[in-house]
Amino acid sequence: MDDLYRELILDHYQHPHNHGEIPSADISYEDSNPLCGDKIRIDIKLRDNVVEDVKFNGKGCAISQASASMLTDELIGKSLDAIKKMDKQFILDLLGIPLGPTRIKCALLPLKVIKAGAYGINNWGDEDDE
Ligand code: FES
Repeated sequence: MDDLYRELILDHYQHPHNHGEIPSADISYEDSNPLCGDKIRIDIKLRDNVVEDVKFNGKGCAISQASASMLTDELIGKSLDAIKKMDKQFILDLLGIPLGPTRIKCALLPLKVIKAGAYGINNWGDEDDE
């Protein structure tokens, strides 16, 4: 079963989904994996606080890039509140293979980026409401 997931990860790495940039994005956020310095940037276009389009960019290992590709596939149509509720297990289930502590940091980098982006824009929204 692991082999199937490994193939899927490799396929996302070699042919990433949602790769690129959104010039007029509502959320653009970038962060790096402190262990290796690899970076992921994610651009999100919103409509009524729901993800209408998403693209990612950056460099990193197969796990971080596949994780970004798979995660961005899941984001279209999701609200910012739903993004804030996504947890580590959600990503580990998407990848589907056991990962050691170093690889987990790679896998979670894209989630860290979109959550920081989602919280950022919501905080600005709260300030506007007051
Ligand atoms: Fe850098 Fe995986 S080794 S993100």
